[in-house]
Amino acid sequence: MIIEMSKEIKAQTFSKNTFKNNFKDFKQNPYSLFKGDSRNLLNLLDNKFNKPFIDLLVTSPPYNIGKEYEGDLSHEEYVALHTDVITKVLPMIRKTGSICWQVGFQVNKTGRKASIAPLDFLYHELFMKIAKSLDIPLKLKNRIIWRFGHGGIAKTRFSGRYEVVLWYTLGDNYTFNLSDVGEQQKYPSKRQTLKKGGKISGQFLGKNPEDVWDFKETVWDIPNVKSNHTEKTLHPCQFPIELIQKLTLALTNKGDLVFDPYAGVHSTGCSSAMLDRCYIGSELDEKYSKMGLKRVNLAIDKKLIYRKGNGIMNPKESAFSVMPEAWLRMSARNLLKEYGNAKNAYKYLKQFPEIDK
Ligand SMILES: C[S@@+](CC[C@H](N)C(=O)[O-])C[C@H]1O[C@@H](n2cnc3c(N)ncnc32)[C@H](O)[C@@H]1O
Repeated sequence: MIIEMSKEIKAQTFSKNTFKNNFKDFKQNPYSLFKGDSRNLLNLLDNKFNKPFIDLLVTSPPYNIGKEYEGDLSHEEYVALHTDVITKVLPMIRKTGSICWQVGFQVNKTGRKASIAPLDFLYHELFMKIAKSLDIPLKLKNRIIWRFGHGGIAKTRFSGRYEVVLWYTLGDNYTFNLSDVGEQQKYPSKRQTLKKGGKISGQFLGKNPEDVWDFKETVWDIPNVKSNHTEKTLHPCQFPIELIQKLTLALTNKGDLVFDPYAGVHSTGCSSAMLDRCYIGSELDEKYSKMGLKRVNLAIDKKLIYRKGNGIMNPKESAFSVMPEAWLRMSARNLLKEYGNAKNAYKYLKQFPEIDK
């Protein structure tokens, strides 16, 4: 769907009551933020369009783990809600389109009693079952591992540091712009063997991204949005914009329509605005919607502050990564050098109560 956008664009908010009269089309309303239940929006869209119109659905649904924005749903109610949403939305996705469903884990109980349930297991089964019932040839293309470096610290199991993105297509002619998301070459000067011609063997536009987005060694360094992240708002579980940008660049073209049924503070809308894609998203919570409207308008005006994937951050540039003086001096070799023997070194250490822990 190639849409020429008018120059004076602002994001617009709709509700169930205003959508019918005020929403025209994606040319006139390229950034549409629906305040309300995604099922209501899907019903309204179903009445409006009589053929598939979504190019990319990208979302992170609630996990049903007691976050502030989640109702107290039983497992059956949770599955019923998402069955309903997926059943409604699948027929609205174009044959060239994609779905990126980003999920982590449900954690039951705490401490040694804890157990985890990978949500992608549940969703994959649901997607395939619903697609079969609708006769839609859904294919899982990748299960992308999004690995990040920070998060809660577990003491009775290993700390969780990745979530996954299930990427589905609906036909074999799907949009896939590999060269728009090429990664930095590790060995750019590597050559073919002389027998093969001896030319530089890497691809000029970057190497093909892999399905593990490990951000320590590659240019795709995408931390999750926690307290010190430049994109942090009042929402507890935001998408990093860079993550959606990578998916959007690879899976859509300019002017295409991106949809997020669980939009939070509309990070997907921000990414869409920055990349000249149209956007529609629904969010139940009033305060997230309000924040989302502000952010998408800043993104349209190219004023939204976000973390750009410009390569690996140099930890030495951050004030947080400077080693506290006491820790530096704690190094055994330094201590012995400075205090002459272990007894004196230990005497010195005793003044730092945190060291004994
Ligand atoms: C994991 S968050 C998504 C955050 C989002 N990716 C962002 O970057 O801000 C899930 C969001 O879905 C919203 N939500 C839950 N049920 C919904 C529903 N039925 N319709 C619309 N939004 C819903 C919640 O309020 C929450 O903000």
